[in-house]
Amino acid sequence: MKKGVRIAEVTAENWRAVAGLELDDEQKEFVASNVYSLAESKFDPSARPRAIYVGKRVVGFLMYDLVEDQPPETTIYRFMIGKTQQGKGYGRAALECVLEEIRRIPGIAKISICYIPKNPAAKRFYASFGFVEIGADEDGEMIAELAL
Ligand SMILES: CC(C)(COP(=O)(O)OP(=O)(O)OC[C@H]1O[C@@H](n2cnc3c(N)ncnc32)[C@H](O)[C@@H]1OP(=O)(O)O)[C@@H](O)C(=O)NCCC(=O)NCCS
Repeated sequence: MKKGVRIAEVTAENWRAVAGLELDDEQKEFVASNVYSLAESKFDPSARPRAIYVGKRVVGFLMYDLVEDQPPETTIYRFMIGKTQQGKGYGRAALECVLEEIRRIPGIAKISICYIPKNPAAKRFYASFGFVEIGADEDGEMIAELAL
């Protein structure tokens, strides 16, 4: 177990806790609000929203998509830990959890992740897992990939 961190589907029981997570004002530009992401996930069948738990407490949220092509493709495009719970290793542990979940999907050859290039922590954080930047997409977001 990674610091007691696990990820779970967003449900009728936990979505309010996910929606209530907050970021510092200067971090809000780095990721869409959780309320927006949850709404989006309801209309995008490829979206896989996940609550991040420590014990029984929801501390964060992430979302990846699964495009069922041949081979299937996946991008982690939302990732946040609530501001009161940051800096305790939960983000690192949660990323390990989602990478493990994605690795179990048959046929996945690589995992993409995207982030705003001026996010000070993102590049170093994802690079430490082996993600390699491949360039910006049409919206100016950096794409990094991890080959499996
Ligand atoms: C990025 C984020 C998810 C990291 O979560 P966290 O639980 O605070 O991270 P951890 O404690 O596991 O630390 C992981 C790494 O994040 C970085 N980090 C964490 N807190 C940081 C801080 N206050 N300032 C700068 N970097 C920090 C460090 O590089 C750290 O690396 P280390 O393990 O080598 O020390 C969290 O800061 C966050 O939600 N940020 C706002 C949203 C965002 O930027 N999301 C990512 C882009 S989608």
